[in-house]
Amino acid sequence: MCGIIGYIGQKKAEEIVLKGLKRMEYRGYDSAGIATLNGGLSIIKCKGKVRELKKLVKVDSKESAQIGIGHTRWATHGEPNDINSHPHVGKLGKLALVHNGIIENYTSIKKKLESEGIEFYSETDTEAAAKLIEFVIESRPDLPMEKAVQLAISQITGAYGFAMIHSDYPDRILVARKGSPLLIGVGEGEMLIASDASAVAEYTDKVVYLDEGELAVISKDKFQVLDANDVELEKEVHELVMSLEEIEKGGYPYFMLKEIFEQPKTIADCMRGRINTETGEITLGGLTKALDKLVDAKRIIIAACGTSWHSALVGEYLIEHLARVSVEVEYASEFRYKDPIIDENDVLIVISQSGETADTLAALRKAKDSGATVFGIVNVVGSTIARETDAGVYLHTGPEIGVASTKAFTGQVTVLVLIALKLALMKGAITKEVSKKYIKALREIPEKIQHILDRSEQMKRISDLFTYAPNFLYLGRTYSFPVALEGALKLKEISYIHAEGYPAAEMKHGPIALIDEMMPVVVIATTDHTNDKMVSNIEEVKARKGRIISITSEENNDVSTLSEFNFSVPETEDFLSPLLSVIPLQLLSYYVAVNRGCDVDQPRNLAKSVTVE
Ligand code: M6R
Repeated sequence: MCGIIGYIGQKKAEEIVLKGLKRMEYRGYDSAGIATLNGGLSIIKCKGKVRELKKLVKVDSKESAQIGIGHTRWATHGEPNDINSHPHVGKLGKLALVHNGIIENYTSIKKKLESEGIEFYSETDTEAAAKLIEFVIESRPDLPMEKAVQLAISQITGAYGFAMIHSDYPDRILVARKGSPLLIGVGEGEMLIASDASAVAEYTDKVVYLDEGELAVISKDKFQVLDANDVELEKEVHELVMSLEEIEKGGYPYFMLKEIFEQPKTIADCMRGRINTETGEITLGGLTKALDKLVDAKRIIIAACGTSWHSALVGEYLIEHLARVSVEVEYASEFRYKDPIIDENDVLIVISQSGETADTLAALRKAKDSGATVFGIVNVVGSTIARETDAGVYLHTGPEIGVASTKAFTGQVTVLVLIALKLALMKGAITKEVSKKYIKALREIPEKIQHILDRSEQMKRISDLFTYAPNFLYLGRTYSFPVALEGALKLKEISYIHAEGYPAAEMKHGPIALIDEMMPVVVIATTDHTNDKMVSNIEEVKARKGRIISITSEENNDVSTLSEFNFSVPETEDFLSPLLSVIPLQLLSYYVAVNRGCDVDQPRNLAKSVTVE
């Protein structure tokens, strides 16, 4: 959460910082701010989106600065307003600091500094860090600046990604990381720092990822990274593979719509080089290092949050059904605190689009501390989760910028299908012949998704009729149950309509009380072996005048004829059906949100990557 960007070089810092903030706005968009050094320290910040900040910042060639930092905020402490916006400054107005994370001991730091006569203006935790760091730099002139900063941050508990500039040291940006991602973009005669690679991709393809406890001093032609013990580190420079096309809307009104329509391609990319139709083999290079652990595991635990947790549920059905290995799915936030039973014989798979979700990262660390082997299914290359897992598989679906996850979900499910098939083959639960048949079905998925997308108008017409419904219920069985949860989550997060996903049979145990003629019930009936049961559930809804919108496979006439509205998806194997049935639900939520005038890509109160607890 929160986007951080910084620039030092020869170009106009304001322009580069504002552009970077725009690219990272999906990380938080309550308020934004910029600090530059040009003679003295100048700060401009305001409530609202980056476009509001842009109106206030002059980008003039004569007056431009060549060093600056910026921030786009997702509020934790203090409401989104001008004063609480970052950057925050020290008492003397020499140091400006931006922060991503939560400072847990900020009240005690504040009290101590107040007793030194330092006044506070905002309600944020970040201001305490800014005031403390500047105070320590001033009181320890005997120390080089970076040592003073290290001394100050050793007094801070909590999570942070900090970037700071200081008017006495106009040749450098300092960054420090504990719990919140930061990277350095290495250019020619210029350097950038950011919490997200998308902010630097336009300027360089060389990046250095900071690890926990590291501090870096960045000037225009060099950087120095120190660990918590002040030892200088040799950091690997990674190649960033990210095209500008991938991080721009490309003619679509919203990133979410672009990402929905990209899915035929992203799923094909996800499978590329990993499946062999001739032999039925699956190759997942990233798993090789620890594959034996996965194959020998008596049970597998999968931990994730949000949409990734829904993929995990699909994974449970897939691995149990195809490979006959027992799977437990956990909310990462519960797993980390519930005193889980896990040891060195266990395998944990964590799933995360961003690779930065705080709870998922904590679950990973908890499992590693217990000796378990941890696998990752991650989209963002080089992210913390990707780097801390023992082995893993990338989605290769490209940057996902819309806050509502779409192509990452189908990418995650595709990877889980591949893992389940690989395991099934290795454990002898399926033959090569069966695998070939399944791989063939998987290869047909992108084309089938395209067929669904070509009929998106039909889903728009259905959405138009239900735009102002106050509640929705989503029902599914087996593989369609996680899809029901995902459909409900998509609708609530971007259109603010209350929606619940349920296993269809559970409806009788409570939610049926909600059903009346005002209640749209979205029924996902694409798994053949449970269709008869779904027919009974639909009858129960209809008997109470609920309005049925069904998602069925093309040949499921029993359900479609019973429904007020039906959208059919092509036939496929039951276990692949989530990859198809989720698409009309993504479209439904998108069109309803647009009809309601909601900001689809930046829904209220949310942020793309949840790096705080
Ligand atoms: O980056 P992650 O996959 O770890 O994120 C997990 C959730 O925060 C995320 O899926 C969230 O629920 C999305 N906004 C759902 O669309």
